[in-house]
Amino acid sequence: MKVLRTIPEVREFREGQGKVGFVPTMGAFHDGHLDLMRAAKDSCGRCIVSLFVNPLQFGPHEDLSKYPRQEERDFEMASSVGVDAIFAPNVDSLYGNNQTLVSVGGPSENFEGSRRPGHFQGVATVVLKLFNIVQPTEAWFGLKDLQQCAVLNRMCLDLNLNLQLRFLETRRDERGLARSSRNAYLTEVQREKACELHRTLNSLSQATSDSSLKDLRRMITSASNHLAIHEFEVEYLDLVDPVTFESPEGSLQGCHWIVATKFHGVRLIDNVAVGHSRLLAQ
Ligand code: PAJ
Repeated sequence: MKVLRTIPEVREFREGQGKVGFVPTMGAFHDGHLDLMRAAKDSCGRCIVSLFVNPLQFGPHEDLSKYPRQEERDFEMASSVGVDAIFAPNVDSLYGNNQTLVSVGGPSENFEGSRRPGHFQGVATVVLKLFNIVQPTEAWFGLKDLQQCAVLNRMCLDLNLNLQLRFLETRRDERGLARSSRNAYLTEVQREKACELHRTLNSLSQATSDSSLKDLRRMITSASNHLAIHEFEVEYLDLVDPVTFESPEGSLQGCHWIVATKFHGVRLIDNVAVGHSRLLAQ
């Protein structure tokens, strides 16, 4: 596996390659990241990963300085699943004197967007830059960060990007907790209890199959109360269309239950589709 530090090095590596699957990351790899790398490699025959903790997507009070950095371990993990090259630039070589920001409308506006001002602008800016540098055939993202998928999907449509976005199911531990680098901030006992989040979303999803729009308010109140009893501070809990991130209109099939909570001081987000996700079906 090649380690690339600069944009010219990536361009040189890319030259003469056919199809390339690309997985943008911020490192601290877990099985969710490795699933994406395997899928990109399987699909395209070649896989390039980027590892860059993007300052632009962190708010002033978020965990940029605390974000786990373990480059050598990450390189070994990526290499073990057949990644061909990893692009790990420093902030200066990627941004230089950058004065351009990519601002996506629509699905970036509510939920994570309104709670984390500037976050999706930071994500869209870095991802578009990385797409232009790597020039992938396909780019792979995890449904764990569902709203990020919706925002990038919108950006690719609106800016007519010449690549295919691919989305992969959320990787969970054996108890159902979505894998996340932030899980490391929880104790083993807390992680065990945190699985209630996924159980609650699953029950909501199952109950939704035979519900109407009218039932949703009552379901949301009851599930929020249930989570509060289990020590979660709910920031939002809702059912959305995963393409627009607006309330569903008509059929609830393919919509997602989304949740953000604080659990013992750690922010956890998760989501579960009702049946087959509408984002995958487009
Ligand atoms: P990061 O949090 O490192 O995630 C990299 C990719 O891994 C994202 O597509 C994310 O959705 C996916 N991922 C994380 N946890 C997952 C899980 N449990 N199952 C499946 N996929 C999972 O997301 C980012 O980085 C950044 O915002 C980035 C897109 C790299 C832009 O800076």
